[in-house]
Amino acid sequence: MNDTKIVFATGNVGKMREIRMIMADLGIEVLSMKEAQIQTEIVEDGTSFEENAMIKAETIAKELARCGQKAIVLADDSGLEVDFLNKEPGVYSARYMGEDTSYTIKNANILERLAGVPDEKRTARFVCVIVAVFMDGRSYSCRAAIEGQIGYEEKGENGFGYDPIFYVPEYGRYLAELTNEEKNRISHRGKALEAMKEVIRKELGL
Ligand code: IMP
Repeated sequence: MNDTKIVFATGNVGKMREIRMIMADLGIEVLSMKEAQIQTEIVEDGTSFEENAMIKAETIAKELARCGQKAIVLADDSGLEVDFLNKEPGVYSARYMGEDTSYTIKNANILERLAGVPDEKRTARFVCVIVAVFMDGRSYSCRAAIEGQIGYEEKGENGFGYDPIFYVPEYGRYLAELTNEEKNRISHRGKALEAMKEVIRKELGL
């Protein structure tokens, strides 16, 4: 194990599990904010995924510095862009129809807004941007996407959020019908994290 640490700016347990799985082969300890004992409110008021990821990473980097801790800080911001809805919900994906509204309701609403829309106009993508702030203050960002279509109903029990309405033509299945391993291999977050792993390897000479 390398003695450099990574702190990932998320409080989401499911996301941490996904991130640990993908980052495992780097040989660097990945801590959640809770494990790094960082408690701070982050106001995600950016208008792009890049801006929001940078806000999260810089807030945590400052907090770590204030506590005298050294670590590489990673943060991500992600969301669903539906072309027919002018790329909504986009950066508002988590807050769409209200943060506490269930995804059963959010997904039903998107399906309803696309009622009667033909296949070729149902294109959509999940986007993920990962930002790294290194210990000398330099930052990098990696963006990746998975292209697909909004389906006609909810399908599958895996994943989370909008996965049950996101159809992946390449697999002939909805994202929520894929296993975690299959999803990580092709997902926006999986691909952005793989790209970021290369940046970290180069930075640390691994
Ligand atoms: P974030 O945690 O601020 O990046 O918000 C991301 C939001 O986008 C989530 O709350 C979901 O609504 C949506 N989202 C991002 N990635 C996924 C995914 O892999 N599957 C389903 N929904 C996702």
